[in-house]
Amino acid sequence: MPRAIISPSVLASDFGQLTAECKRMIKGGAEWLHMDVMDGHFVPNITMGAPILSCVSKGIPGIFMDCHMMVAQPEKWVNDIADAGGALYCFHLEATNDPLSLINAIRARNMKAGVAISPDTPSTAITDEIANAADMLLVMTVYPGRGGQKFLERCIPKVAELRARFPDKDIEVDGGVGPNTIAACADAGSNVIVAGTAIFGATDPEGVIAALKASVNA
Ligand code: DX5
Ligand code: ZN
Repeated sequence: MPRAIISPSVLASDFGQLTAECKRMIKGGAEWLHMDVMDGHFVPNITMGAPILSCVSKGIPGIFMDCHMMVAQPEKWVNDIADAGGALYCFHLEATNDPLSLINAIRARNMKAGVAISPDTPSTAITDEIANAADMLLVMTVYPGRGGQKFLERCIPKVAELRARFPDKDIEVDGGVGPNTIAACADAGSNVIVAGTAIFGATDPEGVIAALKASVNA
Protein backbone atom coordinates (compact mmCIF):
# COMPACT_ATOMS: atom_id res chain seq x y z
CA MET A 1 0.00 0.00 0.00
CA PRO A 2 1.27 3.53 -0.72
CA ARG A 3 2.42 5.69 2.20
CA ALA A 4 0.01 7.29 4.67
CA ILE A 5 -0.88 10.91 4.00
CA ILE A 6 -3.02 13.05 6.30
CA SER A 7 -4.95 15.86 4.63
CA PRO A 8 -6.84 18.02 7.14
CA SER A 9 -10.00 19.55 5.69
CA VAL A 10 -9.84 23.31 6.24
CA LEU A 11 -13.62 23.48 6.00
CA ALA A 12 -13.55 22.92 9.76
CA SER A 13 -10.97 25.68 10.34
CA ASP A 14 -11.34 29.39 11.14
CA PHE A 15 -11.58 30.82 7.60
CA GLY A 16 -10.64 34.24 8.94
CA GLN A 17 -7.22 32.83 9.80
CA LEU A 18 -6.93 30.37 6.94
CA THR A 19 -3.23 30.68 6.22
CA ALA A 20 -2.35 30.46 9.90
CA GLU A 21 -4.64 27.44 10.28
CA CYS A 22 -2.88 25.67 7.38
CA LYS A 23 0.53 26.45 8.87
CA ARG A 24 -0.64 25.05 12.21
CA MET A 25 -1.62 21.76 10.51
CA ILE A 26 1.69 21.43 8.65
CA LYS A 27 3.54 22.06 11.89
CA GLY A 28 1.34 19.37 13.45
CA GLY A 29 2.46 16.76 10.92
CA ALA A 30 0.00 17.06 8.01
CA GLU A 31 1.46 16.38 4.58
CA TRP A 32 -1.40 17.84 2.54
CA LEU A 33 -4.18 20.39 3.11
CA HIS A 34 -7.64 19.44 1.84
CA MET A 35 -9.35 22.44 0.25
CA ASP A 36 -13.10 21.95 -0.28
CA VAL A 37 -14.24 24.02 -3.24
CA MET A 38 -18.08 24.16 -3.46
CA ASP A 39 -19.98 26.09 -6.10
CA GLY A 40 -23.61 26.11 -4.89
CA HIS A 41 -24.59 23.97 -7.91
CA PHE A 42 -23.02 20.52 -7.59
CA VAL A 43 -23.65 20.89 -3.86
CA PRO A 44 -25.94 23.41 -2.12
CA ASN A 45 -23.17 25.31 -0.31
CA ILE A 46 -20.54 27.81 -1.47
CA THR A 47 -17.11 27.81 0.17
CA MET A 48 -14.02 29.19 -1.52
CA GLY A 49 -12.41 29.39 -4.93
CA ALA A 50 -9.13 30.18 -6.65
CA PRO A 51 -8.61 33.72 -5.19
CA ILE A 52 -8.55 32.36 -1.65
CA LEU A 53 -6.40 29.35 -2.54
CA SER A 54 -3.98 31.71 -4.22
CA CYS A 55 -3.56 33.72 -0.99
CA VAL A 56 -2.86 30.52 0.95
CA SER A 57 -0.26 29.19 -1.50
CA LYS A 58 1.50 32.56 -1.60
CA GLY A 59 1.59 32.61 2.18
CA ILE A 60 2.95 29.06 2.46
CA PRO A 61 5.50 28.27 -0.26
CA GLY A 62 5.58 24.56 -1.06
CA ILE A 63 2.16 23.80 0.44
CA PHE A 64 0.42 20.78 -1.16
CA MET A 65 -3.18 21.85 -1.73
CA ASP A 66 -5.43 18.81 -2.27
CA CYS A 67 -8.30 20.58 -4.02
CA HIS A 68 -11.62 18.74 -3.76
CA MET A 69 -13.73 20.26 -6.51
CA MET A 70 -17.41 19.89 -5.63
CA VAL A 71 -18.41 21.85 -8.71
CA ALA A 72 -20.86 21.27 -11.55
CA GLN A 73 -18.42 22.08 -14.34
CA PRO A 74 -15.01 20.78 -13.27
CA GLU A 75 -13.52 21.52 -16.72
CA LYS A 76 -14.04 25.22 -16.09
CA TRP A 77 -11.72 25.69 -13.12
CA VAL A 78 -8.57 23.75 -14.05
CA ASN A 79 -6.56 26.78 -15.15
CA ASP A 80 -7.67 28.98 -12.27
CA ILE A 81 -6.81 26.34 -9.67
CA ALA A 82 -3.46 25.63 -11.33
CA ASP A 83 -2.67 29.37 -11.35
CA ALA A 84 -3.67 29.53 -7.68
CA GLY A 85 -1.07 26.90 -6.78
CA GLY A 86 -3.24 23.79 -6.57
CA ALA A 87 -1.18 20.60 -6.41
CA LEU A 88 -3.97 18.07 -6.87
CA TYR A 89 -7.26 18.65 -8.66
CA CYS A 90 -9.89 16.12 -7.65
CA PHE A 91 -13.15 16.27 -9.60
CA HIS A 92 -16.37 14.32 -9.16
CA LEU A 93 -17.01 11.59 -11.69
CA GLU A 94 -20.72 12.47 -11.46
CA ALA A 95 -20.00 15.97 -12.77
CA THR A 96 -18.35 15.19 -16.10
CA ASN A 97 -19.04 13.26 -19.30
CA ASP A 98 -15.41 13.07 -20.31
CA PRO A 99 -13.18 12.18 -17.35
CA LEU A 100 -10.21 11.15 -19.48
CA SER A 101 -9.96 14.49 -21.27
CA LEU A 102 -10.32 16.26 -17.95
CA ILE A 103 -7.50 14.21 -16.43
CA ASN A 104 -5.31 15.13 -19.41
CA ALA A 105 -6.14 18.83 -18.96
CA ILE A 106 -5.27 18.67 -15.26
CA ARG A 107 -1.98 16.89 -15.97
CA ALA A 108 -1.15 19.42 -18.69
CA ARG A 109 -1.20 22.07 -15.95
CA ASN A 110 1.23 20.03 -13.83
CA MET A 111 -1.31 19.07 -11.21
CA LYS A 112 -2.06 15.56 -10.00
CA ALA A 113 -5.51 14.34 -11.02
CA GLY A 114 -8.02 12.85 -8.59
CA VAL A 115 -11.37 11.21 -9.30
CA ALA A 116 -14.05 11.31 -6.59
CA ILE A 117 -17.19 9.21 -6.21
CA SER A 118 -20.17 10.15 -4.04
CA PRO A 119 -21.87 7.56 -1.78
CA ASP A 120 -24.39 6.44 -4.42
CA THR A 121 -21.82 5.92 -7.19
CA PRO A 122 -20.46 2.36 -7.43
CA SER A 123 -16.73 1.69 -7.53
CA THR A 124 -17.21 0.09 -10.96
CA ALA A 125 -18.00 3.55 -12.37
CA ILE A 126 -14.25 4.09 -12.10
CA THR A 127 -13.08 2.05 -15.08
CA ASP A 128 -9.56 0.67 -15.31
CA GLU A 129 -8.78 3.27 -17.95
CA ILE A 130 -9.88 6.16 -15.73
CA ALA A 131 -8.10 4.82 -12.65
CA ASN A 132 -4.88 4.16 -14.50
CA ALA A 133 -4.89 7.69 -15.89
CA ALA A 134 -5.58 9.25 -12.48
CA ASP A 135 -3.15 9.77 -9.59
CA MET A 136 -5.72 9.38 -6.82
CA LEU A 137 -9.20 7.96 -6.24
CA LEU A 138 -11.47 9.52 -3.61
CA VAL A 139 -14.24 7.50 -2.00
CA MET A 140 -16.63 9.87 -0.22
CA THR A 141 -17.84 8.54 3.12
CA VAL A 142 -20.51 11.26 3.45
CA TYR A 143 -22.65 13.04 0.86
CA PRO A 144 -20.55 15.97 -0.34
CA GLY A 145 -21.72 19.39 0.76
CA ARG A 146 -20.78 20.05 4.36
CA GLY A 147 -18.46 19.04 7.17
CA GLY A 148 -19.33 17.35 10.44
CA GLN A 149 -21.55 14.60 9.02
CA LYS A 150 -21.81 11.01 10.21
CA PHE A 151 -19.43 8.50 8.58
CA LEU A 152 -21.22 6.16 6.16
CA GLU A 153 -19.79 2.73 6.86
CA ARG A 154 -21.57 1.32 3.80
CA CYS A 155 -19.12 3.18 1.53
CA ILE A 156 -16.14 1.25 2.87
CA PRO A 157 -16.52 -1.87 0.70
CA LYS A 158 -15.85 0.41 -2.30
CA VAL A 159 -12.45 1.28 -0.82
CA ALA A 160 -11.63 -2.42 -0.51
CA GLU A 161 -12.78 -3.10 -4.08
CA LEU A 162 -10.64 -0.29 -5.47
CA ARG A 163 -7.61 -1.29 -3.37
CA ALA A 164 -7.90 -4.86 -4.71
CA ARG A 165 -7.98 -3.55 -8.28
CA PHE A 166 -5.27 -0.90 -7.81
CA PRO A 167 -2.69 -1.94 -5.21
CA ASP A 168 -0.38 1.04 -5.80
CA LYS A 169 -2.85 3.88 -6.26
CA ASP A 170 -3.47 6.63 -3.69
CA ILE A 171 -6.98 6.05 -2.33
CA GLU A 172 -8.47 8.85 -0.25
CA VAL A 173 -11.43 8.76 2.13
CA ASP A 174 -13.33 11.92 3.06
CA GLY A 175 -16.21 12.55 5.44
CA GLY A 176 -16.73 11.71 9.09
CA VAL A 177 -13.25 10.25 9.40
CA GLY A 178 -11.56 10.42 12.81
CA PRO A 179 -10.15 8.24 15.59
CA ASN A 180 -13.40 6.25 15.83
CA THR A 181 -13.72 5.46 12.11
CA ILE A 182 -10.13 5.32 10.88
CA ALA A 183 -9.75 1.57 11.49
CA ALA A 184 -12.44 0.70 8.94
CA CYS A 185 -10.82 3.04 6.38
CA ALA A 186 -7.31 1.76 6.96
CA ASP A 187 -8.33 -1.91 6.99
CA ALA A 188 -10.09 -1.45 3.65
CA GLY A 189 -6.92 0.01 2.17
CA SER A 190 -7.23 3.80 2.04
CA ASN A 191 -3.95 5.64 2.56
CA VAL A 192 -4.91 9.31 2.11
CA ILE A 193 -6.99 10.42 5.06
CA VAL A 194 -9.10 13.57 5.08
CA ALA A 195 -10.41 14.74 8.44
CA GLY A 196 -11.95 18.10 9.27
CA THR A 197 -13.92 18.16 12.49
CA ALA A 198 -11.84 15.40 14.09
CA ILE A 199 -8.61 17.38 13.67
CA PHE A 200 -9.66 21.03 13.95
CA GLY A 201 -12.11 20.29 16.76
CA ALA A 202 -9.48 18.49 18.84
CA THR A 203 -7.60 20.08 21.72
CA ASP A 204 -4.55 18.22 20.43
CA PRO A 205 -4.67 18.23 16.61
CA GLU A 206 -1.07 17.05 16.44
CA GLY A 207 -1.98 13.94 18.45
CA VAL A 208 -4.97 13.19 16.21
CA ILE A 209 -2.82 13.54 13.06
CA ALA A 210 -0.23 11.17 14.53
CA ALA A 211 -2.90 8.66 15.58
CA LEU A 212 -4.54 8.66 12.13
CA LYS A 213 -1.17 8.14 10.48
CA ALA A 214 -0.27 5.31 12.85
CA SER A 215 -3.56 3.55 12.06
CA VAL A 216 -2.83 3.56 8.35
CA ASN A 217 0.74 2.38 8.87
CA ALA A 218 -0.24 -0.34 11.37
C1 DX5 B 1 -17.66 17.31 2.63
C2 DX5 B 1 -16.22 17.65 2.43
C3 DX5 B 1 -15.31 17.08 3.45
C4 DX5 B 1 -15.57 17.57 4.84
C5 DX5 B 1 -14.95 16.67 5.85
O1 DX5 B 1 -18.40 17.77 1.56
O2 DX5 B 1 -15.77 17.18 1.17
O3 DX5 B 1 -13.96 17.31 3.08
O4 DX5 B 1 -15.10 18.86 5.05
O5 DX5 B 1 -15.25 17.13 7.10
P1 DX5 B 1 -15.46 16.17 8.34
O6 DX5 B 1 -14.16 15.45 8.55
O7 DX5 B 1 -15.83 17.08 9.42
O8 DX5 B 1 -16.55 15.20 7.96
ZN1 ZN C 1 -13.62 17.14 0.80
